[in-house]
Amino acid sequence: MSYLSLDTSLTKTFFSEAELKEVEKEVLAARDVLESRKGLGNDFLGWLDLPITFDSREKCRIKQAAGRICEHSSVLLAVGIGGSYLGARSCIELFKPYFKNNGCEVIFVGNHISGSYMAELLDYIKDKDYSINVISKSGTTTEPAIAFRILEEALINKYGKEEAKKRIFATTDKAKGALKTLADAEGYETFVVPDDVGGRFSVLTPVGLLPIAASGVDVDKILEGAKEAYLEFTSNKSITSNIALEYALIRNLLYRKGKKFEILVNYEPRFAYFAEWWKQLFGESEGKDHKGIWPASANFTTDLHSLGQMIQDGERTMFETVLELENVNKDVTIKANDNNLDGLNFLAGKTMNEVNHVATLGTRIAHYDGGVPNILIKLKELTPKSYGYLVYFFEYACAVSAYTLGVNPFNQPGVEAYKKNMFALLGKPGYEDLKAELEKKVK
Ligand code: PA5
Repeated sequence: MSYLSLDTSLTKTFFSEAELKEVEKEVLAARDVLESRKGLGNDFLGWLDLPITFDSREKCRIKQAAGRICEHSSVLLAVGIGGSYLGARSCIELFKPYFKNNGCEVIFVGNHISGSYMAELLDYIKDKDYSINVISKSGTTTEPAIAFRILEEALINKYGKEEAKKRIFATTDKAKGALKTLADAEGYETFVVPDDVGGRFSVLTPVGLLPIAASGVDVDKILEGAKEAYLEFTSNKSITSNIALEYALIRNLLYRKGKKFEILVNYEPRFAYFAEWWKQLFGESEGKDHKGIWPASANFTTDLHSLGQMIQDGERTMFETVLELENVNKDVTIKANDNNLDGLNFLAGKTMNEVNHVATLGTRIAHYDGGVPNILIKLKELTPKSYGYLVYFFEYACAVSAYTLGVNPFNQPGVEAYKKNMFALLGKPGYEDLKAELEKKVK
């Protein structure tokens, strides 16, 4: 079953048939580069086959650990940043109820350095039973390392060293990094981030799957959905029937026509963090060599009352990709009202989701008429399977898109610059010269 459909009809007036044909050739060549595994960054292609190569014993261990976490704890602290954070959060936010917690509450931390967040978190968890999953592929990233140092101490103080061992899980490299050394020394259970899977492509590894399983979402179904996408996208070389290739084609075409910003739009608040995951995936994969489409996001209709003016009327350098959920499982009907003082009786009998759908259509046309090309991705249903499928769709499209752009999709050299400056300014040994240089720049 295909969980997605792609409608690019509201983009076609922005480029010619000849331009389309030209970029089509490049996308097909980029697809071949990916599939031949000979392109830039080809030592990071582990994600490509992950849906069929995932070790079933490892999957069992993830589910068992999640079971133990939920048995002992009402809260799981998931400590990580970037690719070691956004995938799990995107999924958990999609499936958790808006207003109550089912089972284990997953709280994300270590994805910034806010002292006030940490202070309030320590206060919030002090009377709760909790476990920790610290996630860092390199095992050396500053934000999660600081958070873990503080939370590990709090947990040991609360439960003692022996009980702490049952409550701390480390997801990291199989052999190297400070986190691996620490976890081995303390006897914490570890899960491995495969060498050949980069952070932003790692949601379908223990990085994402352990917190997701602890939140109660069915990880088997997620992997099944990803496998369906894998079978569909990797075997199909035709742009007209492979929507991952078609999406890569249209966004590259629009980029070349001056549309430098892509806004991923949703009409369901629970998709807000999915957009954050998508932004990292495309932003870190494409933003290189002074190239790349800026990945932005908007939550509609909320942001129509803040960003709507800019999209309708501002500089014409953007396009929209609307991610619309077709079958929303809960709904409320608007009733007629005798006095009709609010003038809304014309909506009587319609459901809120029907109105939301009409808002989607009306806005797409308005923005298109205002000069904003519009791609529509329809997700037929929101289930763990369709989520797995959607993740793989975007990962595949992203890799092809970045190769079409001519960059290495799998490195992130630009992320290092701020880290070096931060270490130097904080006085980390080995950074003395840089510290002096920086201090001259900003006295
Ligand atoms: O995609 C990436 O590689 C990065 O965003 C990393 O996930 C992020 O920097 C965190 O790295 P680590 O997992 O090594 O702590």
